[in-house]
Amino acid sequence: MAIEEKIKELVELREKARLGGGEKRIESQHNKGKMTARERIDYFLDEDSFEEYDMFVTHRSHNFGLEKQKYLSDGVITGHGTIDGRVVYVFAQDFTVFGGSLSETYAQKICKIMDQAMKVGAPVIGLNDSGGARIQEGVTSLAGYADIFQRNIMASGVIPQLSAIFGPCAGGAVYSPALTDFIVMQDKTSYMFVTGPKVVKTVTGEDITTEELGGATTHATRSGISHFVSETEEEGLMLLRKLLSYMPQNNLEDPPMTKCTDPIDRQEDYLNEIIPDNPNKPYDIKDVIELIVDKGEFLETQRQYARNIVTCFAKFNGMPVGIVANQPNYLAGVLDIESSRKAGRFVRFCDAFNIPIVTLVDVPGFLPGSMQEYGGIITHGAKLLYAYGEATVPKITITLRKSYGGAHDVMSSKQLRGDINYAWPTAEIAVMGAQGAVEVLYLKEIKAIEKEEDKIKFIDEKIKEYNNKFANPYQAASFGYIDDVIEPRNTRFRIIRALRTLATKKDVNPPKKHGNIPL
Ligand code: HXC
Repeated sequence: MAIEEKIKELVELREKARLGGGEKRIESQHNKGKMTARERIDYFLDEDSFEEYDMFVTHRSHNFGLEKQKYLSDGVITGHGTIDGRVVYVFAQDFTVFGGSLSETYAQKICKIMDQAMKVGAPVIGLNDSGGARIQEGVTSLAGYADIFQRNIMASGVIPQLSAIFGPCAGGAVYSPALTDFIVMQDKTSYMFVTGPKVVKTVTGEDITTEELGGATTHATRSGISHFVSETEEEGLMLLRKLLSYMPQNNLEDPPMTKCTDPIDRQEDYLNEIIPDNPNKPYDIKDVIELIVDKGEFLETQRQYARNIVTCFAKFNGMPVGIVANQPNYLAGVLDIESSRKAGRFVRFCDAFNIPIVTLVDVPGFLPGSMQEYGGIITHGAKLLYAYGEATVPKITITLRKSYGGAHDVMSSKQLRGDINYAWPTAEIAVMGAQGAVEVLYLKEIKAIEKEEDKIKFIDEKIKEYNNKFANPYQAASFGYIDDVIEPRNTRFRIIRALRTLATKKDVNPPKKHGNIPL
């Protein structure tokens, strides 16, 4: 064969591969409002940066007449490209080929790019849209999943791993995305569950729709499995790009600095007034975040889940940070099971990838009650405590208002190796709130007072006395637990200076196989 013919053959084979499961199935995918795997990759990566691997791979199965149905690429598109000029590895499941179901060779393709991403030290992004294990292949498909899971586990904390769910993701297949750092789900067209509605009905008798059981809203609000919900696939892909802009390529690098045009010493007078006079009145912590970060921009994770704590990425003077902030606007910013889990995982992600953590504290304590105790608030609260205590990245804590009890210790306190702990003059750092404290301290005296009005007067006096002593940051500052009391309007500058100072921070944990975080 002459070279021209050989090249013609190559071009034809490539064209064939690009058609995936064929034009009809591509049309069907489009009719569902979905992009094809290749269209997703094109949209996601920098223009013309994608280099595809294993385009000519086909499955090897002879079961159920499968040998007569072969498609080049075998249902998953893999390779590398760039995002904002930085290398990433990507795989996109192609629903037009056997419903994107996973075969032995398909799994090998994913494993190949994961292995290479680990060698190169670059993120892996998976775009999921699949009917699960390729039924005709049997256990080789299950083994293929497990090969991927093992790589997800080994890559965890070494390279960022991100997932988008743009269609079905069911059965054991959910565990690969679940092992990754962040999941974006597209509203209405994606779902994730271990067992679908039919099995649920058979086993438990419960009638439930696919959307209710495992749709994006369910996982964004109830389970917390999805970190972001996108209206469209395009929005989801852009979100992933944005997310990557806060992350280093791997755990040995620092997150990427960008040029900052927002003045570092920008003062925000409104911050001096943001804390209401009444300590029981809420305010929106996101207003504080917006005023202190570069250009007011931040990317919130799990926005609709455990809203009593805010976790987000932002930049200070161009340096990416993770922010954890109690939200007084929701459940008074109390720590409970869900918020502890949410923040604990976020802190660990930041620590794994050298992203400094800024903690904004306004927490009345842990949520009391049998539901919390039975649900294991002790274990879950300990997760956040553990995460902060083991983190060695720069940790800057600002106490805005309340910081009571165990929650004070948990929220990046000095004793958990908080590097720089500031408080606003409005801070109240104490074992508990005044009302509760007075009722415990003066129980006998209060009981002994006969007249109701005298009782109220006595309690009010004692509350005042307690507040004078404890409802301020100065007792904690007198012990050095707070490094400085700062004017709220200077918060941005003080954080930026702290980050600069801590840029060369080194801290290590004792050598061990791994700790035993209370899971
Ligand atoms: C092989 C599959 C397939 C699968 C779909 N297809 N799922 N082929 N193995 N798992 C094929 C279909 O035969 C069809 O082929 C094409 O993909 C599109 O499927 P449709 O059913 O026409 O599409 P749709 O109506 O959109 O429904 C999508 C679906 C449904 C909900 C995903 O196909 C479905 O329920 N599939 C089976 C899901 C399943 O039970 N998977 C195994 C789960 S167990 P043609 O030729 O017509 O285009 C599992 C264990 C993993 O995954 C364990 C890991 C540890």
